[in-house]
Amino acid sequence: MFALCIKTKNFHWHVSGPHFHDYHLLLDDQADQIFATTDAIADRVRKIGGRTLRSIGHIARLQRILDNDADYVTALDMLAELREDNQRLTVRLRHTHALCEEHGDIATVSLLEQLVDEAERRAWFLFEATRRERSWRMAAGTRDRGP
Ligand SMILES: [Fe+2]
Repeated sequence: MFALCIKTKNFHWHVSGPHFHDYHLLLDDQADQIFATTDAIADRVRKIGGRTLRSIGHIARLQRILDNDADYVTALDMLAELREDNQRLTVRLRHTHALCEEHGDIATVSLLEQLVDEAERRAWFLFEATRRERSWRMAAGTRDRGP
């Protein structure tokens, strides 16, 4: 979640182009939402006796969302990459959901359902925010993928 949060902030800070304002605000909202999940998850982990993240180094060792340190990324590529990252996140959340169901941890199941809904909402917004531009790209022969 921290890696996705920082990547979303990274793109919020570095996005450019004709839709700068809209994308800048969209990514800020999404980064805020992702950041808010980190405390809910960590608190839940502590409630069931687990240990949480302790440092940036710890985050880096457990990171699954890949960084994007490129000097320049187009706005469309930023949104497409985040959409895929959020979709991958929902897959992992679903696996965790199944595990928690097996163990009868209904409160974590409930939290995970909320996190899946939020990640799917982010992926939806990222998809729809670029639909028209992607249509133009497709007309020019560039491949496109749905949400
Ligand atoms: Fe900002």
